[in-house]
Amino acid sequence: MAERQVRVKNTGLRGVTVADTKISYIDGEKGILIYRGYRIEELAQRSTFMETAFLLLNGHLPVESEIERFERQVVQAREIPAFIPDVLASLPKDADPMDVLQSCIPLLGAADQELYDESREANVRKAIRLIARVPAVVAAWNRIRNGQKPLPPDSTLPHAANFLWQLTGNKPDREVAHDFDVCLVLHADHTFNASTFACREVVSTNAHMYAGVTAGVGALSGPLHGGANARVMKMLLEVESQVKSKADIPGWVHNKVENGEKIMGMGHAVYKTIDPRAKILKEMSERLGKKMGRQQWYEYLTAIEEAGYKEFEARGKTNIRTNVDFYSGSVYSLMGIPTDVMTPVFAISRISGWCAHIIEEKFAEAQEKPALYRPEAEYVGHYCGAIGCTYEPMDSRG
Ligand SMILES: CC(C)(COP(=O)(O)OP(=O)(O)OC[C@H]1O[C@@H](n2cnc3c(N)ncnc32)[C@H](O)[C@@H]1OP(=O)(O)O)[C@@H](O)C(=O)NCCC(=O)NCCS
Repeated sequence: MAERQVRVKNTGLRGVTVADTKISYIDGEKGILIYRGYRIEELAQRSTFMETAFLLLNGHLPVESEIERFERQVVQAREIPAFIPDVLASLPKDADPMDVLQSCIPLLGAADQELYDESREANVRKAIRLIARVPAVVAAWNRIRNGQKPLPPDSTLPHAANFLWQLTGNKPDREVAHDFDVCLVLHADHTFNASTFACREVVSTNAHMYAGVTAGVGALSGPLHGGANARVMKMLLEVESQVKSKADIPGWVHNKVENGEKIMGMGHAVYKTIDPRAKILKEMSERLGKKMGRQQWYEYLTAIEEAGYKEFEARGKTNIRTNVDFYSGSVYSLMGIPTDVMTPVFAISRISGWCAHIIEEKFAEAQEKPALYRPEAEYVGHYCGAIGCTYEPMDSRG
């Protein structure tokens, strides 16, 4: 094999730097997450999802006229192409919302007049349309599969509140709308995670933005990535049905780990301490639980967290801590979001980060020139020497 090879087999590329980026940064040891220089805690407290999306796409916090224009563009782009609800209506009603979302991204692309305009300006406009329309597709499918008509967007509602309205048909109160907006800020970007890398890898071939995002949605659907929030919720409901009280939780956790099963929402490929987003969601889960009279979920989750830490520590794994998905499932459920819509909700936020990364990749904004990703694999299959195997005709094989 060629000597230039750097062997990082079976590591899932952990610790391998494949590109430079100016979009976000994680310090996994210290539990720090930064978007374009700003700490996630500060953005969660002081920014909005619209402002954060602008920041990710443009690299600076907007002045008033910029954010007004950006928000207006998003509101104006909320309407999905008329044929999409018809396509949705023709799908099997038990189709998974993430699969449906993934199928709809190329359809949104097909309706985009600027699909093949590869200027930076056109790519930012496409990003704005995707940020506006991905929530609308998710909401429309949830209604259609339940035999309801999709709801038109409400231009008087901000982004987060409008999604909850289009999904549930109820206008959320100020606190819930604000909390959901904070959730969108928290999930907006996360450096070179699997889905972002998928987006960047696809557009490194000069494929258009919609092709990249389609790959991103596919990668996010996996249970080891975005799918974990829904699985935490399923885990919580399982715990609720199986234990008599909180006192039984350490035993439940022990049995799971002993059987080689994962505790969903714990552990992270990069964070070796608590995910900073989990701290914010933990407070939200407690507060919303109290508000809605569902404190039990929060109590069970904290008991699982505590028992999990003890269990992992007893096994010498001191760095498995709660991640962003651990508390987000309960938060979303309290907001009326169905369990299988939780991963699409992740996509509603992450679309902003994906688009920012796609633009950075396409225009080599953090490195000298664009590069087509093309790793190597070591061939470990059948081999008959330098000239290859002798092809046997069908009747002489055996
Ligand atoms: C996210 C995740 C894939 C990170 O994995 P990673 O850094 O590659 O670490 P590994 O999966 O190799 O785990 C290292 C060890 O800890 C164990 N471990 C990690 N997370 C665990 C969890 N949540 N529950 C039980 N065991 C866990 C693994 O089984 C493995 O044990 P082993 O060395 O005895 O085989 C992993 O922690 C996980 O599957 N978590 C649950 C799913 C989840 O919450 N995903 C959302 C991520 S944001």
